[in-house]
Amino acid sequence: MPLQNAQDRYGLVAKLFHWIAALLILDLIVMGVVMGGMPDGAQKVQIFGAHKMLGMVALVLVLLRLSWRLIGYPAPALPHSVSLRQRRVARIVQALMYVLMVAVPVMGVLMSQAAGKDVPFLFSLPVLIDRQDEATREMLKAFHGACAFTLIALAIGHAAMGLIHHWVMKDDVLRQMTRYPRSRKA
Ligand code: HEM
Repeated sequence: MPLQNAQDRYGLVAKLFHWIAALLILDLIVMGVVMGGMPDGAQKVQIFGAHKMLGMVALVLVLLRLSWRLIGYPAPALPHSVSLRQRRVARIVQALMYVLMVAVPVMGVLMSQAAGKDVPFLFSLPVLIDRQDEATREMLKAFHGACAFTLIALAIGHAAMGLIHHWVMKDDVLRQMTRYPRSRKA
């Protein structure tokens, strides 16, 4: 399978970015919800640490993915069967998802810093916000949660549309991100 995107399908690199991000985000949302309901203790501290670490991995991946896409490997064209209106909606949803995939982890980092906590990662992150600011931490926590749930809602709609294209409209939209488009098969 070629590494780069072609005109009618995604390449291996874009597919890996897409499916790893999907798994990571699902996992991070579940972790976020679970840890919110946990009693204080060592186990909660461990899950917080894992959530922050995976969240940072998700941030690095989305930045690499955006660079890959913007620098020279744009998305393949949608099949002709997709209407102009559907293309516009898909483009808006995808752009919003990218914005949220960057904003959610950045808010997570700022929230941790406002709580005076370090974020475990490969290197020390610069402190971007006044330490120990409870009002700011509360506000960022609310935004972090709201944006994360908006992201998962958009992802569910995005996935549902992919399945509708595959099973109802029977076109190649989903196949562009899974395997070769029908036209390319044997
Ligand atoms: C794409 C990445 C991320 C997603 C999807 C995500 C998702 C979530 C969700 C759904 C919650 C629960 C919110 C609620 O119940 O209101 C949460 C909580 C939290 N997240 Fe994230 N998160 C991400 C990245 C990060 C990062 C990078 C950090 C910090 C470095 C972080 C730190 C936290 C903390 C500290 C909480 C708990 C807040 C509290 O209960 O005090 N998150 N996250």
